[in-house]
Amino acid sequence: MTTQKIKLLFCLFLATGLNLQSYAQSGRTPVRAENGMVASSHYLASEVGSEIIEKGGNAIDASVATAFALAVALPSAGNIGGGGFIVYHGNDGYQTTFNFREKAPMAATEDMFLGENRKVKNNSNHEGLLSVGVPGTVAGLYKAHQKMGDLPWEDLVAPAIKLAEEGFPWTYRLNWFQNWVKNRENEDLYKATAKAFLKNGTDLYKQGEIIKQPDLAETLKRIQKHGADGFYKGKTAELIASYMKEHGGLITEEDLAAYEPEELEPVKGKYRGYDIVAMPPPSTGGVALIEMLNIIEGFDMQEMGHNSAKSLHVLTEAMRRGFADRALHLGDPNFNPEMPVEKLISKDYAADLRETIEENKASQSDSANFSAAHLKYESPQTTQISVVDKEGNAVSMTYTLEHSFGSKITVEGAGFLLNNEMGDFNPIPGYTDTEGFIGTAPNLVAPQKRMISSMTPAIVAKEGRPLLVIGSPGGRTIINTVFQVVVNVLDYKMNIGQAIEAPRIHHQWLPDVTSFERFGISPDTKRLYEAMGHKVKWNDSQGRAMGIYLDHEEGVLYGTADSRSYDSRAVGNN
Ligand code: DON
Repeated sequence: MTTQKIKLLFCLFLATGLNLQSYAQSGRTPVRAENGMVASSHYLASEVGSEIIEKGGNAIDASVATAFALAVALPSAGNIGGGGFIVYHGNDGYQTTFNFREKAPMAATEDMFLGENRKVKNNSNHEGLLSVGVPGTVAGLYKAHQKMGDLPWEDLVAPAIKLAEEGFPWTYRLNWFQNWVKNRENEDLYKATAKAFLKNGTDLYKQGEIIKQPDLAETLKRIQKHGADGFYKGKTAELIASYMKEHGGLITEEDLAAYEPEELEPVKGKYRGYDIVAMPPPSTGGVALIEMLNIIEGFDMQEMGHNSAKSLHVLTEAMRRGFADRALHLGDPNFNPEMPVEKLISKDYAADLRETIEENKASQSDSANFSAAHLKYESPQTTQISVVDKEGNAVSMTYTLEHSFGSKITVEGAGFLLNNEMGDFNPIPGYTDTEGFIGTAPNLVAPQKRMISSMTPAIVAKEGRPLLVIGSPGGRTIINTVFQVVVNVLDYKMNIGQAIEAPRIHHQWLPDVTSFERFGISPDTKRLYEAMGHKVKWNDSQGRAMGIYLDHEEGVLYGTADSRSYDSRAVGNN
């Protein structure tokens, strides 16, 4: 090769690299673009969303297409077998939300997980077919599209079908799952998972090898052709119901046909003059977020300094109070008509709570007030899609299978994983302890009821236009992750990259301990914080936030996909 050719190739390489850098990356330097932005947990899905915007799709179109693409490329959390929430805020001020949280099947009962001595039998609320809720994702995406989509439905499902048929490169992120599956390939319940996620049904993929999902592609084609009916009726519904019947699950064709997503009014608050638009119950995230912001509004966070011991103390005390109320009051509103949501998000109530916060002294989480919260481990395997389209309309969508890869059960012949969301109900009625169970009424199992969720898709707006689109996975930590990103942007004036990358903390009332991201908070700060009476434990990583900031003065969008997320990417349209 001549020197000239080598130079030319080098320049081309550099140009491609620079170009990529300018519209797609993760980390503290946000992606900058003028005509749209998609941030999600998988680069291929973000690219799909961005292409939909390029074709004239709006934020709903792009989020739907991204969600279907994630259902192929991010099997840990992307899904058609789970459920979630969409929060929408148009550039014209119009706001709405879609609730497509899973439901308990009609045959579900309060005691369905209990065995001898009223103990949970075989971890059945988290494992096996009883842990599966009636999926909501396809119905939710379809409803949002029916109401607000611009592009044809078929075009939004098509990129996911292509990904499933042509495959995508296996990444390191998926390795533990295939090892898990490999160990169970002969167990009847997981045979279809082995077929779908092991090479030739038996071998391990190496990083970079292409995985194709032909059964999933066929399911997606039925959804493409028939809309929600392609999932809730006909062949897909038959496959789900017969798999359930054969293996002892509860979900029937009737359950599937009866599933209805809901359009709901957002829960709304104000923080230092900015509007907070978030998901109402059965999400607990919106209410807790607004309550916590209201509490800290009475403190000068800027003056205290970001992640100083003082500011961490105030954040912790707000979290403690927000999470206590969450545990005490919130459930599916269709089954709990008396929930005091208006009170919980009111400024007066926050002022009362603020009075109970002492300077430099930790409160105790008083389990005598209310015996205990659900303390169980929750993995960070939900996923967030943040989208802004050319017109400045915004979508924040969080959807989940609950655990990483959900129940890890694949529907034979349909190629997708089922959720294990029933674990988000309170499993033992009346039994609450500090070891991990809460048995209070608002969130007990009932037929067709929705389990509560911590998912907190949220949009901050100013003067009727979206300003910040944000959300994250992380189980209960989600609420605190979103809380801190909002505070980082509004109080500390961080750009979206800094706000997402900054070290985070988590306190959930009970257990009475704060987790700090390891290496994120200095030992000196930790010492000062502990001296106030707080207990601290380390945590490797908290959440995987995806955010977009709309700079209306410059007419520019800034997007960041959390570097805590292995395959994530923000992709902009210029
Ligand atoms: O809806 C919820 O709050 C949980 N199912 C979310 C789960 C999550 O983020 C991480 N998963 N275990």
